[in-house]
Amino acid sequence: MPSRPPRLVVISNRVPNPGDKKAQAGGLAAALLDALGDSGGLWFGWNGKVGNVYRPDPTIGEQAGITFATMELSRRDYNEYYNGFANRTLWPLLHYRLDIAYFDRQQYSRYIEVNRLFAEKLSPLLRTTDIIWVHDYHLIPIAAELRALGHKQKIGFFLHTPFPATEIMTALPNHDQLVRSMFDYDLIGFQTEKHKRAFLDYLRYELGAEVTAKHVELDGRRVRIGVFPVGIDADQFKRNGADAESLVWHRNLRRQHGDTDWLIGVDRLDYSKGLIERFRSYERFLAKYSEFQRKVTFFQIAPPSRAEVPEYREIRHELEAEAGHINGRFADLDWVPINYINKSYSRAQLARFYHESRVGFVTPLRDGMNLVAMEYVAAQNPQDPGALILSRFAGAAEYLDGALVVNPFGPDGVSDAIAMALDMPLEERRERYDSMMAAIEGNDVRKWGRTFIQALIKIRRDRAAK
Ligand code: F6P
Repeated sequence: MPSRPPRLVVISNRVPNPGDKKAQAGGLAAALLDALGDSGGLWFGWNGKVGNVYRPDPTIGEQAGITFATMELSRRDYNEYYNGFANRTLWPLLHYRLDIAYFDRQQYSRYIEVNRLFAEKLSPLLRTTDIIWVHDYHLIPIAAELRALGHKQKIGFFLHTPFPATEIMTALPNHDQLVRSMFDYDLIGFQTEKHKRAFLDYLRYELGAEVTAKHVELDGRRVRIGVFPVGIDADQFKRNGADAESLVWHRNLRRQHGDTDWLIGVDRLDYSKGLIERFRSYERFLAKYSEFQRKVTFFQIAPPSRAEVPEYREIRHELEAEAGHINGRFADLDWVPINYINKSYSRAQLARFYHESRVGFVTPLRDGMNLVAMEYVAAQNPQDPGALILSRFAGAAEYLDGALVVNPFGPDGVSDAIAMALDMPLEERRERYDSMMAAIEGNDVRKWGRTFIQALIKIRRDRAAK
């Protein structure tokens, strides 16, 4: 009989509500739920609520053989750890936005304290035979905190965001303390070769670590480093996209927006997504290629996010002004050039929107991967697919060679790419689609989960314990 895999413990800042049906949960969550289900696993983290209790105990629930242990954050932890160091310091820094990164020693201490608190609350729930998978920048030092409590299990870390160039990283006070704590992991994963290379450069030139083909070593501690690109549930987007044509919803939308070609952008309302630059490029396109006026409609869907962080509030106002400006300049009684929508839609609805759009418009200034780019492609009609415009600074550009790759900082280049996408002959669209689909289907999100977990299980420690 095949032996049961070790129990998987996932730790992430945000944990999906155990009540979420798989189909509704995001692709990543669904992949993790699969992996957790296979091993009767445990998912630990924040439940998204803010309360008054200082150091609350986790609430334990079970769903489909998976244990969920989630806890509230106190108002202070929420302000200083989540809104503070995680999202006002690390997030901008990891996305190359030193100009808006806010450094505050108190917030850094709180970040470490919350990582310690999570480790302490998780500790009694752990078994010695578990393997532990930590996600993202909120929880970088949690392995060190778990080790301090005596835990010797294998622990892996996956960074969903980019890792920046050394010159950016070193602007963070305490950067070396934070990165040194990563040597308490057994395996560290990145989305792309570029992010991995930036990390290795930092380790080599800043910390003087020894970098070999297999691992990195610092002060006698070894970690393996790998690239594990996140993928999507391609089948789901194919299926949902194909549903589009049969829908009343679709017919109504078409009636409303006439016979125009659609461009679609879907992003959390975040400055890293390059929305202002995207709007300005679209404006440049309408002015430069005036023959397309009245023939295109741009939908930008941007659900609000992290609204208590000031920089996120500001970008919302800026975008409203910019969209109003473009419509003021070009709109007519029967044509609205840009529809800027601050709402979220289900994955099925988005797939239908993608399917219906001639151009996927994905131009982040920096992005770990960007799954919208892949979802757009997967939802296309293979016989008559649309074209994808993709920022060179999205991790996905390393994998989607059929995209029109652009520099999002240059409105002229982006506006030329829009015209090219709209004029692209069917044969070329199909060729590009086929090559992108091969990459997307060859690396679906379940493969990502399995590959990382297998790599973690396979690690052989040279020393008895971390
Ligand atoms: O890596 C970025 C990320 O943490 C994603 O995993 C997630 O979709 C997004 O940010 C949501 O952010 P938040 O939890 O702050 O709403």
